[in-house]
Amino acid sequence: MNKEQSTSQEKETASLKNDLLLRAARGEAVERPPVWLMRQAGRILPQYRELRASLSGFKELVETPELACEVTIQPIDELGVDAAIIFSDILVVPEVMGLRYEMIPGKGPMFPMTIQIEEDVDKLIAGEKAALQLDYVYKAIELTKAALNGRVPLIGFAGAPWTIMAYMLEGSGSKTFSKARRFLYKKPISSHVLLQKITDTTIDYLRGQIKAGADLIQVFDSWAGILTPEQYRIFALPYIRQICEAITEVPVTVFAKNAWFALPEIGQLDCNVVGIDWNTTPQEARRLVGEDKTLQGNLDPCLLYAPEDKICATTHQMVHDFGKKYICNLGHGVYPDTPLDNVKIFVDAVKSFTFDS
Ligand code: CP3
Repeated sequence: MNKEQSTSQEKETASLKNDLLLRAARGEAVERPPVWLMRQAGRILPQYRELRASLSGFKELVETPELACEVTIQPIDELGVDAAIIFSDILVVPEVMGLRYEMIPGKGPMFPMTIQIEEDVDKLIAGEKAALQLDYVYKAIELTKAALNGRVPLIGFAGAPWTIMAYMLEGSGSKTFSKARRFLYKKPISSHVLLQKITDTTIDYLRGQIKAGADLIQVFDSWAGILTPEQYRIFALPYIRQICEAITEVPVTVFAKNAWFALPEIGQLDCNVVGIDWNTTPQEARRLVGEDKTLQGNLDPCLLYAPEDKICATTHQMVHDFGKKYICNLGHGVYPDTPLDNVKIFVDAVKSFTFDS
């Protein structure tokens, strides 16, 4: 079932000069598939690196709405993609719940405090009280919507509850996230309390983003693939389901990385779009998800290091294989050292595609 189309949403779509993304998300006919890249804001663009170098760090960019707006729009100007994604991070949610994060250059996120025992879960702030502190994100979305002036839709996002929980327990990135997975086995009740608190906060946060102008919401479950299928059913899906059911105003994309085993259940969620990583073929993804949803993905980000003809041929084949109800993207975020010219070759290859070609 697709989301109800509210009047305000229709008005919004009408005022967009390029609404390919929203039409594709709702399963409507499009002339060609829309294209954008996960992690397109920042990292690969020299303009971003220059701005970033002049600041105290990543968090200053995220927390200053004018700067977040500037960085969000850079890939629209530079790459000509069909959507903007607000410059922020999934880790702003654990921060307002009580666990501050730091972004260590060259290493990634680090939490000075993590959840160690059940009492730590009880102390966390949740729901509206936490989400209200994310005012700087709502402000950034408002500014960006105004600056985009209808050029392309703006995507808002949040981490899925399991992925956020994984960072809250682990305190940084990890190959195994074994501290977080251990907690699921040792403290299942407390795990559910924590996941519910994250879910409540995320729903309020996403509502704030939509109120500020986000046209579509993507939920990133980046660490879905490290759970067993049974754990995914118990500790991940029910909370994503709550988020999908709570967000009714705009289309929702669920991207659960490496969770091919859960695609049939993800296909049953009340979302519009399912993100696919590169471990699944377009045909297999469609078979597992079913006919209802729009699919998004799934080029291997490493393909963007290949020669031009290889990038073009593989991209065209992928677009052809996904067929209708499709949003073109990579199978995960673009890697920071990807040559910018190759990103442009990819985007242009999609833009030259027509369904008759
Ligand atoms: O997509 C976009 O361009 C919008 C911005 C965005 C960022 N992070 C900016 C960022 C988005 C959507 C995210 C989501 C995010 N953040 C995820 C989910 C997507 C995924 O990749 O699985 C995750 C797991 C995080 C957590 C995070 N933030 C990590 C692990 C890191 C370090 C490694 C890395 O990817 O660079 C970050 C830092 C981060 N988030 C940067 C950017 C531009 C790099 C910061 C810098 O400039 O040094």
